[in-house]
Amino acid sequence: MRNYHARKMDKEAIYPYQAWKITEEEFLLENNHHNEAIFALGNGYMGLRGTLEEDYPGSEESTTPGFYINGVYASEKIIYGEEAPNLPKKGQTMINLADWSEINLYINEEKLNLLKGKILDYKRELDLKQGLLSRRIRWEDRQGRKIEIKITRLISLSREHIGAIRYQFKPINFSGKISLNSAINGDVSNHHHLRDKKALEVIESEVDTNTGHLLHKVKSTKFKVAYVAEHLMDEHSKENFEVKKRSSDNRVDWVFEISANQGEEYTIDKIVGINHSQEEGENPLSDARASAARASITGFENLVEEQTEFMSGYWQDVDVKIDGDDALQQAFRFNAFHILQAAGKDGQTSVAAKGISGEYYEGHYFWDTESYVLPFYAFQRPEVARNLLLFRYNTLAKARKNAERMKLDGALFPWRTINGEEASGFFMGSTVQYHINADIAYALNLYYQVSRDQEFMENYGLEILIETARMWISLGSYIPMKNNKFCFNVVCGPDEYKPGVNNNAYTNYMAKFNLDTAVKMAEIIKNKSPEKYKRLAERIDLNQKEIENMKEVKEDIYLPYNEELEITPQDDSFLYKNPIEVDNIPEEELPLVKNWHPLIVWRYQVIKQADVILLMLQLGNKFSNELKIRNYDYYEPKTTHDSSLSPAIYSIIASEIGYKNQAYNYFMQTARLDLDDYNENAYQGVHTACMGGTWLSLVQGFAGMRMFNGKLYFHPHLPDGWNNYQFRLRFKGSQIEITVKENTVKYMLLSGDKVEFKHYDQVVVLKESNLSQELEI
Ligand code: BGC
Repeated sequence: MRNYHARKMDKEAIYPYQAWKITEEEFLLENNHHNEAIFALGNGYMGLRGTLEEDYPGSEESTTPGFYINGVYASEKIIYGEEAPNLPKKGQTMINLADWSEINLYINEEKLNLLKGKILDYKRELDLKQGLLSRRIRWEDRQGRKIEIKITRLISLSREHIGAIRYQFKPINFSGKISLNSAINGDVSNHHHLRDKKALEVIESEVDTNTGHLLHKVKSTKFKVAYVAEHLMDEHSKENFEVKKRSSDNRVDWVFEISANQGEEYTIDKIVGINHSQEEGENPLSDARASAARASITGFENLVEEQTEFMSGYWQDVDVKIDGDDALQQAFRFNAFHILQAAGKDGQTSVAAKGISGEYYEGHYFWDTESYVLPFYAFQRPEVARNLLLFRYNTLAKARKNAERMKLDGALFPWRTINGEEASGFFMGSTVQYHINADIAYALNLYYQVSRDQEFMENYGLEILIETARMWISLGSYIPMKNNKFCFNVVCGPDEYKPGVNNNAYTNYMAKFNLDTAVKMAEIIKNKSPEKYKRLAERIDLNQKEIENMKEVKEDIYLPYNEELEITPQDDSFLYKNPIEVDNIPEEELPLVKNWHPLIVWRYQVIKQADVILLMLQLGNKFSNELKIRNYDYYEPKTTHDSSLSPAIYSIIASEIGYKNQAYNYFMQTARLDLDDYNENAYQGVHTACMGGTWLSLVQGFAGMRMFNGKLYFHPHLPDGWNNYQFRLRFKGSQIEITVKENTVKYMLLSGDKVEFKHYDQVVVLKESNLSQELEI
């Protein structure tokens, strides 16, 4: 392993290794920004960064407060340095919405400020088992008054419109006036990206004794967002509080004042309902009111119970147990928790590159969803995978328009989007990555093979497959100088350091897969549901001749191979570029994307992220082991892993070809990337695809799981130093548990009728009469 990577992994752990918790043991301003992403809470619908309830006492550079709703964005005209025809006109940027978590505490007139007075005790804890964030502070103000504060926060996973905070305090050595100023702060702005940082306008605000609301409108789009807060107190606290309230243009404030007794604990619960509208005429305010009212009746404690119950169900499906490595055990749970928080589950939204934990990447959805996150769901919670694919179906009309923009047939999915339109103005990094079409087709096939959800394919899947296949037919052409093979020119594979190349191997193979899957699915549905097929064919003008043409073209697609080096060339020009090894690039010049002009990057054989190596994974059954080894040996030294999507894939292929140390090292770069902040940019938001990659590198890497043509395969091994690891998978309606030990692996059927797979070359069938099997590795 190169030093560059080893050094990154030498970073000291920021949080102690705990199986189910992430704990901040000391309040340090220098960790604040990072903590905001690590302690972000979300439920797929909305996300709140791990900001403090009280006003942040540090500098503006060390905080990016944020509350977002997945899919709620502002839109601005893209300004180009140089205009060109058919470029996308408007961008989309996820908006920072009102901060409803604000609560400031005063002892007399002295405001809780962790930089003033003395922190006697401090602990913030993200409880992954329960899905709760809590903070416990013992603080002494400048007059020597000591107070204990306990704050528990949740974003409900079972009620997508609810956030809640329990705020408790107890004067330790004094009796006297204490007030809590709770607010919905609508005076917020985006910190990045938008030119008009004030994307929001207040339509109304109102406050009543314990409740109140704010209604926002996004100026450039039709969204309205309503926040309704209710404050609840226990009987004892209720008697004693006096409430003052005010609402101004963009704030709603409550001040709860009390003459507090030494040693007594007081509690206020803030329950907030949040809804947004998409269309004119919808009334998010009444929806938010209803959500908040229902949750208030339920009460904070029951919301906590619901949350714990939800999480326990989630962990039943997705928990990966690692015996022998606490750091990794923690990382797996942390990553799985964030994947849960990030994923839109309504078919109208998807998974943004940073989830809902930060403004970076503008809340955009990329291929990250289908290639890195969707497998996690397909094999564990297939219903979520279905909804992620449904999002693509719901934006198919826009993908057709996007294809038209590029003078192509069918549909071309956007590289970056929220609403289904291309949101990137940098076409050499975006539109040129046509492979996103094939990635979506690949994910559709994966979902279908795992779930056998025929209904989904009939109603949605096939249409996407045909439309994406049509795009390929119109993009490619028969090139006489290439033996009259069908070629795709001026494309970019996953390696963004090589845009505008001809015949990127990943793209060509995956396009072939896209066509092949479309044709096969058309045949399946034509046989099984001829009526449905006929209706679809009429609607999208599909006939048998076109299917026959797809069959022919897919056989003619040029599949690159270099005889001299006996490797898969990344594209037609890659091997003719200036050779370079990453070890020879000074470390301070990495990542290249930040330090070299693109033209410099393009002239070298230098790779940003797994490209041919990703192909070795996705279509691994098309390549021999020897070729995988040669490809790995050739491309690995040229790869900078400047994208966090890369190491996981190298880890998987390294596992497959027996490079155990490299597999482990690359895995380590993936698993704790955000927790240990290897790239020093986690403050921008968590790396969701990389988190999905962690799961992939265990399941596909160490356990060697593959699925080709609807068949499941395992080639497990145990990394050095681990005692065992265990995970669960769903497959065709059944659930199995796999436990890998040093010399054996145990496969167990947990539910469902029967599962069949191969363990190395041995066929294994688990069924009622043979629920589990322990086999040698
Ligand atoms: C990677 C892309 C990825 C994007 C968002 C880029 O740095 O090169 O593959 O889709 O980040 O995560």
